[in-house]
Amino acid sequence: MIKSWEYKAEYEHEKEEILAAVEEVLNSGCLILGSKVKKFEQDFADYCGTRYGVGVDNGTNAIFLALKALGIGENDEVITVSNTAVATVSAIVSAGAIPVFVDIEEDTFLMDTHKIERLITAQTKCILPVHLFGQCVDMDEVNRIAKQYRLRVIEDCAQSHGATYKNRKAGSMSDIAATSFYPTKILGTYGDGGMVLTNDEELYSKLTRLRFYGMDATGHALVHGYNCRLDEIHAAILLKKLRHIENYISQRRLLADHYNLLLKNTDLVLPVEKLDRKHAYYLYVVRHAKRDLVLSELKKKGIHLNIHYPRPIHMMDAYKNLHYKTGDLPVTERIANEIFSLPLYPSFSLEKLQVVTDSLQEIMTKIQ
Ligand SMILES: Cc1ncc(COP(=O)(O)O)c(C=O)c1O
Repeated sequence: MIKSWEYKAEYEHEKEEILAAVEEVLNSGCLILGSKVKKFEQDFADYCGTRYGVGVDNGTNAIFLALKALGIGENDEVITVSNTAVATVSAIVSAGAIPVFVDIEEDTFLMDTHKIERLITAQTKCILPVHLFGQCVDMDEVNRIAKQYRLRVIEDCAQSHGATYKNRKAGSMSDIAATSFYPTKILGTYGDGGMVLTNDEELYSKLTRLRFYGMDATGHALVHGYNCRLDEIHAAILLKKLRHIENYISQRRLLADHYNLLLKNTDLVLPVEKLDRKHAYYLYVVRHAKRDLVLSELKKKGIHLNIHYPRPIHMMDAYKNLHYKTGDLPVTERIANEIFSLPLYPSFSLEKLQVVTDSLQEIMTKIQ
């Protein structure tokens, strides 16, 4: 059986390092906000090319805190996409703000920056691009619009550690970036984790307070805050894994190259890597008009794949109150019926990849 993702092989490979990191924390006498979190914040911020990092408990809260730190809340509109993890939208709504969805590009599945300006109103406060599947949004255009209309920008870089846009890393091109270290992510821990990144000292101070009950170092709550701390164990694991991040990305890109080569003569529409960007291939998302049939045929062969994402968020019950209707985001809605993700993670073997591509070729011929 082949699954979309599994971590056992990678764990076997890294076991000694991971367990040693956990043990070091357990023996240290400090489990919360100690030296591992501090070091990981600095190292990951350095890796992304920002001055500051604030470790938090997950990527959803990273977005939530970014919005809070920028003072975005009640009645403020945040422009983002509907083709993303629910988390992006959930965080906006939790902050009290209103998500406004822009359609996506047909080839990259990323925010269509040409459609942003028509959505800007007096209530718009922020653009929240999602560097989805491992590729960055056209950030020059996002930042140009933000400057012109005096909007803030929050990057959601949960899926794009190490991806670049014009040689700048994901997470370094906005007021605040939010990321996740959920296990499947390019840099993922064995549990939950996240970070907010910024170059702004004042925002950094705000974020450190907001993540820890609004307190300063003396325990005085200066503002209403939350409990969104990253813990020492996950920071220690992430510090170890951060050393391997470029290997993870190279391996992902190698697997993507193999898929590109082995599937180029099929009816599948393959991912596009833009010339000014480096794709980190968090996901390898392909497109086919008979997607459901392809997936059920693959399942018969023991290949169980996922769809990211089968239902756009503006069509979900939880967000009915935003009053979107079918047809409002035509590209988003169309691709949701056609996309699916092929297995791609560093420990996925080329032998298994070959099984997937052979099966796809066979199915494509059969259903033509
Ligand atoms: C694009 C995107 N944003 C936000 C998140 C939220 O991260 P977390 O699951 O750590 O809350 C995720 C991951 O699930 C994601 O893929």
